[in-house]
Amino acid sequence: MTSDARVLLGAGRRGAGQGLKIRGFMPAVSFQAVSKTFVTPKGPFQALNQVNLDIEEGEFFGLLGPNGAGKTTLISILAGLARATQGRVLVQGSDVQAHFAQARRKLGVVPQELVFDPFFNVREALRFQSGYFGVKNNDAWIDELLANLGLSDKANANMRQLSGGMKRRVLVAQALVHKPPIIVLDEPTAGVDVELRQTLWHFIARLNKEGHTVLLTTHYLEEAEALCGRIAMLKAGRVVALDRTSELLKTASGSVLQFKTDALLPPALDHLARVTGRIVQLPARDAAEIENHLATLRVAGVEVQDMEIRRPDLEDVFLQVMSGTSASNIPLSEVAL
Ligand SMILES: Nc1ncnc2c1ncn2[C@@H]1O[C@H](COP(=O)(O)OP(=O)(O)OP(=O)(O)O)[C@@H](O)[C@H]1O
Ligand SMILES: [Mg+2]
Repeated sequence: MTSDARVLLGAGRRGAGQGLKIRGFMPAVSFQAVSKTFVTPKGPFQALNQVNLDIEEGEFFGLLGPNGAGKTTLISILAGLARATQGRVLVQGSDVQAHFAQARRKLGVVPQELVFDPFFNVREALRFQSGYFGVKNNDAWIDELLANLGLSDKANANMRQLSGGMKRRVLVAQALVHKPPIIVLDEPTAGVDVELRQTLWHFIARLNKEGHTVLLTTHYLEEAEALCGRIAMLKAGRVVALDRTSELLKTASGSVLQFKTDALLPPALDHLARVTGRIVQLPARDAAEIENHLATLRVAGVEVQDMEIRRPDLEDVFLQVMSGTSASNIPLSEVAL
């Protein structure tokens, strides 16, 4: 490797000054030791604590965490809507504070909250947003967005007349109106129907294949498992897991014994189980523990249906990470500054 290449690689990993880097060596988004403390009536509250994350060009990246973990706060800092108390965020090398307009233009942000102007119809809202980013004659792309998001027949409807799920579709269209290289989706599928989810993911996956970087937060872990190549998990403002999705899945130990039942579980299993209605999921370290679980169920007279033994999924990994029982490690290369 030439010394020039080394300089560029080094610069790309940790965002040295602008102008040093070339596309491909520089992360799409670089969160560098980002902390955020809110001043509240009860005193200071630290929502983010030294978050270090690089999202590479073209990645489909998942940011997961329980309610209040700090996902929206991190995205607000990225979008320039909130200021980091410490640290900095670079978008393709542009600092979101020092070069706000330059950084913002590269981002399409779908906010978690439904915010809209009640005086516009859908097409007007999209034209207005195009104008905000200085994009002229954008109707062909606006029509494509409307078609891909199932909104063509709502183009002239006033924003107030739309259902919640349709408003969210418009927010997605608004975020994409200037064809941003980086698409940031803060729970885009909250409250939307199955059909839109499929349409939305089909469209976002297409944009990702065409080279757009995607940063997604979601509580639907099966969506994250299916879509995201790499995932970070936040807990109380800290990154507690960061790896490729496939590697994270490997860290979950053992298997899961899953079945349906109408009966109550015996106390010995009750505290281990994840119960969703009739579906019971019991983690097991090995075959002997599965046998033990089955014996306990038999002795207690619990009738089970549709029994299966499966590999842990991302939800199991997430629960293990959040309870501190995961074997997953944050790679040192990602943490080091
Ligand atoms: N403006 C604010 N003032 C004070 N505290 C805030 C403010 N905004 C967020 N917080 C707090 O910061 C923490 C992180 O909030 P944030 O909205 O980032 O969580 P989240 O991970 O997006 O959660 P959710 O999954 O519910 O959307 C929470 O405890 C929240 O109450
Ligand atoms: Mg949030």
